[in-house]
Order: sequence, then C-alpha cells, then structure tokens
Amino acid sequence: MLSNEEILSARLMVVDDEPNNVVLLEEGLKREGFTRIKSLTDPREVLELYKDFRPHLILLDINMPHLDGFQVMEQLNVVEQGGYIPVLVLTASSDRQVRLKALKFGARDFLTKPIDLLETICRVRNLVETRMLNEDLEEKVRQRTAELNETRLEVIRKLGRAAEYRDNQTGMHVLRMSHFSAALAREVGFSSEECELLLNASPMHDIGKIGIPDGILLKPGSLDDEQWTKMRTHTEIGGLILDGKGNMLMKLAQSIALHHHEKWDGSGYPDKLKGEEIPIEVRIVTICDVFDALTSARPYKKAWPVEEALDFLQRYKGKNFDPDLVDKFVEILPEILRIRDTFVD
Ligand SMILES: [Fe+2]
Repeated sequence: MLSNEEILSARLMVVDDEPNNVVLLEEGLKREGFTRIKSLTDPREVLELYKDFRPHLILLDINMPHLDGFQVMEQLNVVEQGGYIPVLVLTASSDRQVRLKALKFGARDFLTKPIDLLETICRVRNLVETRMLNEDLEEKVRQRTAELNETRLEVIRKLGRAAEYRDNQTGMHVLRMSHFSAALAREVGFSSEECELLLNASPMHDIGKIGIPDGILLKPGSLDDEQWTKMRTHTEIGGLILDGKGNMLMKLAQSIALHHHEKWDGSGYPDKLKGEEIPIEVRIVTICDVFDALTSARPYKKAWPVEEALDFLQRYKGKNFDPDLVDKFVEILPEILRIRDTFVD
C-alpha cells in the first residue's frame, strides 16, 4: 500500500482535443490534491511530452483530430516496445467494440463520457497506485540484478587474482592486460558490451596455472623440456576449469584460457590453431598479455623497456601475432601507456 501523499505525487497527463474537458479534469484532479499535471489538446504532441515527462498515467480521449486515441497508443507501444503503457481511455462511445479495441491496444481501463468526476478520481488513484507499486518492484529487481552482477564479477576477478597469486602477488598484470585488451578491442570496432565482456573474461587466461607445481611455476632459471611440457598444460587445465554450459562470459574466458598461447603461424599450443582459426578475442589478449609480461619484472627476468617490447611485437608479427592487431596496438600506444601508469606493480 502507498500513502495518500505518495499517490498524489504521481505525474498525470490529460489529453483531450476539447479544452472544456481538459479544464474539468484538471480541476477535479487538483481538488483531489494532485499537483503534477500536464495537459494537451493536440494529440500530435503526446509522444514528445510522454518521453520527457514519464507520466504515471495518461487520461486519453479517443475521438480527436489528426491522431485518434488508438493511434496515440500505437505510438506509445512503440516507445515501450510492447511493455506497459499507462493509459486510462475516455470515450464518449459506449460501443463495446471501441472498449475492446482500447483494451487490446493496451489501455488499463476506460471511462465513458460525460465524465463522472468522482468515479474518474477513484480510477485514477487505483491505476496510479498499481503503477507506482510496479515501478517499485521493477526498481528492486533492477537493484538486485545489479548486485548479483557485481558479485559475479567480483568472484571472477578474485578467481583471476587467485590464479596469479603465486607468481605475481600484486595482481596488477591481469588488470593491465585486461584493460589493454578492452582498449584494443574498442580500436578494432568491438561494441562497448563486447569490450566489457573481454575486460571481464581475460583476467582468467592463466587460471590453469593453479595446476602447475611450484617447482616449475616459480623456478628462477629456464625450464627443461619436461618442465616446459608440464608448464604448457596450464592452457588445457584452464580450459577444463572454465568448462561447462556457462554463459557468454565463461565461454569467452574458456576460449581465452585454452588458446592464449596459440600463434598466428600455427606453431603455438595446445591445438596449433593458425591465423583466423584463433578467435579474434584471443588474438587480442595474446598481444596484450605478452606486451605486459615483457614490460614487467618477473622472478626470472627484469622488466624490458617499452621500446624493446614493441620491437619484439614487430619482429614476431605474422609469426606469433596477428599483424593487423599489432599495428592497431601500436596506434593506441598512448592509451596503453596510460593504463600501464594506472595499474603499477
Ligand atoms: Fe599463459
């Protein structure tokens, strides 16, 4: 239940080509205590005012010049994409067909003219209350969904962080490479949703390192053949960890974990994918991951200067890396360096 005050705070619109009717309705509503009322006598102006004013209820006449009430409802239905349109129809016609048509067009209720003010006010109050309670509920659902999403992302970030923790305790590498990846994706024309997805999926690329023994993962010197073979399995382990009938984010994360060491010329692992067989999201991540790994200090190596890391990308473009993506990466270098300055180890 809502309080009287809450109901009277509703935004109301009155649309009738007959000015006398508008005055009558406005006065009745004001006497009841409603204060936020906007009225129109030209139905062609409804759409614009509706978008701007977002009324809780429209009292809408049916028989009007230029656009009749049905056509107005049609316009509102387009805006709301078939969702709720808050319309109380006023019609001089007691014709059953007209009433049925109004309901079919999405009207919540109708009143027959001449207007009975007392009845009108009661109906307005009821409809406004239903509308407001619905909005309340929608808002709560929106909030819960946002919270759920945030929690989900947080768990994903922590998972990526857990994977990094043993060999990179600051966790900044995954932050940098995921932001580089989103920036490069934007540069090659990904939508903002796709960039966001890549931003959230790429931190899990090395999750499979969880399955690599300390003696190999943390070894300061270079690895022997057997150790390398073991080290390479982090891609397949990652693929298995992220396996399942997950959503788009998990599917992308899995694809990245599994293939981020594939090379453009087909000499990578685990599946020796070649060129565009490697999904573009993965090719993006590979470049960003390598660039950040080179320019960061690790237990077994110093950080390379940016210039040298760029030389490396140039030297291996067409071999390890998608050549077009390397060029794009170089083009957005100022942004890459900004990201690098934001997430310092
Ligand atoms: Fe890796």
